[in-house]
Amino acid sequence: MHDMKEVFSATVIRRRVEELAAQIDEVYRGETIVAVCVLKGAFPFFSDLVRAMKTDVLIDFVRLASYGDRASSSEHVQITKDVEISLEGRHVLIVEDIVDTGRSMDFLMRYFSSRGAKSIHLAALIDKKERREFSVHSDFAGFDLPSGFIVGYGLDYAERYRTLPAIYELLDC
Ligand code: IMP
Ligand code: MG
Repeated sequence: MHDMKEVFSATVIRRRVEELAAQIDEVYRGETIVAVCVLKGAFPFFSDLVRAMKTDVLIDFVRLASYGDRASSSEHVQITKDVEISLEGRHVLIVEDIVDTGRSMDFLMRYFSSRGAKSIHLAALIDKKERREFSVHSDFAGFDLPSGFIVGYGLDYAERYRTLPAIYELLDC
C-alpha cells in the first residue's frame, strides 16, 4: 500500500457526476447517443454517469494502448479493443477517466470522426491541464487537477487501486 491522500471523496464524486449527467442531458435533448467508455480507467465513472443520465444511450467500449517513449514524445496510440456499434451518423460521447497530455483523446476523436460520427463530445472526470501537448477540450469536465498522480475510482498505479471508491493522490511514487 502506498502513502496516499484523499483528493475527491466518494460523496464529492457522486455529486459532480450527477451535475455532469444533467449538463449532458441538456445538450443532447431527446437525441439517441452512443456513449463510449474508454477502458479500463473510466469504468466506474462511465457506469455512474450513464445511469444518472436521462438521455437515450447505447453503450460501447474501447481500449487504447500507448506504445513508445512517453518521455521523448515519440509515443503513439493504438486500439486494442474497438467499438462494436457503427458510429456512422451517430452522436458520440466519449467517457474518459483523465486527460493528461491529450494524446489518447486527440487520437480517439480523430478516429471516431473518420468512422463517420455526426458529433463527438468528450466527458472526462479529471482534466489535468499542466502536461497538455495536444489541444483537446473536455466538453464535460468533472474536476481540474493542477498536478500529481492520482488513483482510485478506476484510476490505477500499475493496475492497483482501481476499485477504491474515492480518488487519492499517491505521495510516494
Ligand atoms: P494522455 O494520453 O497523456 O492524455 O493520457 C491519458 C491516460 O494516462 C489516462 O487515460 C490514464 O490512463 C493515464 N493517466 C494520466 N494521468 C494519470 C494519473 O494521475 N493517474 C492514473 N492514470 C493517469
Ligand atoms: Mg485511461
